[in-house]
Amino acid sequence: VIAIDGPAGAGKSTIARALANHFGYVNLETGAMYRSLALKALQTATPLDNEAALAALLGGTRIDLVPTAEGNRVMLDGHEVTERLRAGDVTAAASRVSVYPSVRTAMVERQRAMGSQGGVVMEGRDIGTVVFPRAEAKIFLVADQNTRASRRILQVNATGDAAREQQLTADLKERDARDSQRATAPLRAAEDAVTLDSTHLNLEEVVAEAIRIVEQKLAAE
Ligand code: DC
Repeated sequence: VIAIDGPAGAGKSTIARALANHFGYVNLETGAMYRSLALKALQTATPLDNEAALAALLGGTRIDLVPTAEGNRVMLDGHEVTERLRAGDVTAAASRVSVYPSVRTAMVERQRAMGSQGGVVMEGRDIGTVVFPRAEAKIFLVADQNTRASRRILQVNATGDAAREQQLTADLKERDARDSQRATAPLRAAEDAVTLDSTHLNLEEVVAEAIRIVEQKLAAE
């Protein structure tokens, strides 16, 4: 198991995908599972602050991650929701539903089952700390907040639209705060994780460094 954790917008999905392609593993984006529950909560008008209702909702929800070379396709109760999961309302709701211990316990259980055979690059916030504390290689991928906000703005084609730029930056800050300050499994680096700062690196450089880190870990096993 290769664990990739870090804040929103650090490039985790891209790096996880590149590592999976390089090592012939499958990549699993656990954020998509929280996003799927969030989408279902929005669709069913389940209050985002009702832990018991969210946990019950999750119990009756099927979430399938289908790894592809372009990333995960996500099936929610058998329907493809991959694109829908990227929308702003789902993004904000995912950060809210993921604070609840009973939601997290059920998600972690599913994630452990998905990774039990190994050969996976699993990406999220708590993979190296909670889901697979004994993962063979752990990378904590970071980049400073301004850099991550700029990348997100570029990614969604909002450059030059001052209001949207401001909104995206504020959303990122809010998500950073919630993801790292929640009581249960907050975002933090595992003690044995290698921190990789992508602020001043381009994509090829980050991928090369990530591969180097993993190869070194696997050689030391
Ligand atoms: O990685 P992402 O942006 O798709 O994640 C969406 C939200 O889900 C994020 O705000 C935090 C939460 N999350 C989490 O709490 N634990 C994970 N392992 C993955 C995501």
